[in-house]
Amino acid sequence: IGVIFLNDVLFAYIMKISVIGVGYVGLATAAVLAELGNDVIAADIDKKKIDSLNSGIMPIFEPGLKELVARNIREKRLRFTHDNKEVIRHGEIIFICVGTPPKENWETELKYVKNVAMEIAHNMDSYKVIVHKSTVPVETGDNVRKVIHDNIKKSVDFDVVSNPEFLREGSAIKDTLEPDRIVIGSGSQKAIGIMKKLYEPLKAPLIVTDMRSAEIIKHASNAFLATKISFINSVARICEMSGADVEKIAEGMGHDRRIGKEFLNAGIGYGGSCFPKDSQAFIKIAESYGYDYKLLKATNEINEEQKEHFFKKIKDALNNLNGKQIGILGMSFKPNTDDLRFAPSIYIINELQKEGAKIKAYDPEAMEKAKQVFNSIEYCKDPYEASKDADALIILTEWNEFRELDMEKIKKLMKRSLIIDGRNIYSPENMKKSGFHYISIGRQDVV
Ligand code: UGA
Repeated sequence: IGVIFLNDVLFAYIMKISVIGVGYVGLATAAVLAELGNDVIAADIDKKKIDSLNSGIMPIFEPGLKELVARNIREKRLRFTHDNKEVIRHGEIIFICVGTPPKENWETELKYVKNVAMEIAHNMDSYKVIVHKSTVPVETGDNVRKVIHDNIKKSVDFDVVSNPEFLREGSAIKDTLEPDRIVIGSGSQKAIGIMKKLYEPLKAPLIVTDMRSAEIIKHASNAFLATKISFINSVARICEMSGADVEKIAEGMGHDRRIGKEFLNAGIGYGGSCFPKDSQAFIKIAESYGYDYKLLKATNEINEEQKEHFFKKIKDALNNLNGKQIGILGMSFKPNTDDLRFAPSIYIINELQKEGAKIKAYDPEAMEKAKQVFNSIEYCKDPYEASKDADALIILTEWNEFRELDMEKIKKLMKRSLIIDGRNIYSPENMKKSGFHYISIGRQDVV
């Protein structure tokens, strides 16, 4: 424990921190805690990942991450290793940030968490606060404690804490440095005290609770946000049928502080590594206690329907898709990430291809990952190349650069001036002025 000055801010309590698992959550946690002055070692079983991190190559695209990691390696506050023993012995706090992927039946796969708990039990040689950050079913913390307790080699004391992570991909560093809240769930006052000290420099509201409540806060938050999206997408369907405008409705609703403006963007549904998996997992958790979570089931169904509905719009606009040339703008599940996991683009591009459409696609960051997902796509260097000779141009991700395209140029390049926009990035008035046939979500078509 010491005192250092960093960016003119006083940070007491430099702590020794270990992070196990360097995916989005682990990497952001390790980098940010190092930036706060702590002595951090992060480990992963993927040796290649660790080697490339040590040589400054990031496994994911995330604004600000590369610089942050480089700076903290240089300042000797951050190190990466594949030696789990070393990482477990190092930290007073050990963060478990390994993946919790869905099983076939959508239950959460907890074997990676359990493996880490076993390794901690085998290698721990002094008091540790063991913190699980990954999204996990309620009671996982209790199970982690039991696994460690039953397998511990040396008789040392430890506490388990649930400290769920709320960062978003694409703004992982900002969200970790400026969280809306920090949730600390534990039955141990000692562990809570240590966690409070660790997070003090972030000046975020702290919610201190029991472990099970902390675990449910995470699932309930994601379930609520997913439901908010399906809610507005349902309203969008009513708008399309009634002649109303979902953008105005979202604005009108969002001004009510109890509702809030965010997460009311109608579109082609949520994707990514969190909402689809977490909402299904929460349904399973409810089921395991005997509760039928009808609301969340409907949220998921509406999300699936929204993609199908969008595909139908494309099909209806083009009559027959066979042999049609389609330009796709955006494939990642949202902007500022190269992640395609559960991206709506997967369903839509696959359906288009099944019906014989030819795809030319462009995404500012996700093209490399897209190559592992799609077959027979022509990848383009920019949106204009994707528009060339296209029967329709389809917006699947709202990257900012798509908002500022030269529409005159696009119109000249396309075979037909038809834009089908799954993210409502253009104004129907402007599209009308530019002479496009424009179809979007929850708004009237421009013909
Ligand atoms: C989400 C949560 O926002 C984070 O708080 C949480 O930590 C994270 O899951 C997680 O559990 O790890 P993320 O999946 O990175 O973060 O992305 P979001 O920005 O939440 O977007 C999720 C999806 O919802 C995207 O497909 C996005 O296009 C869609 N969305 C979002 C809409 O369709 N409409 C909206 O108004 C907002």
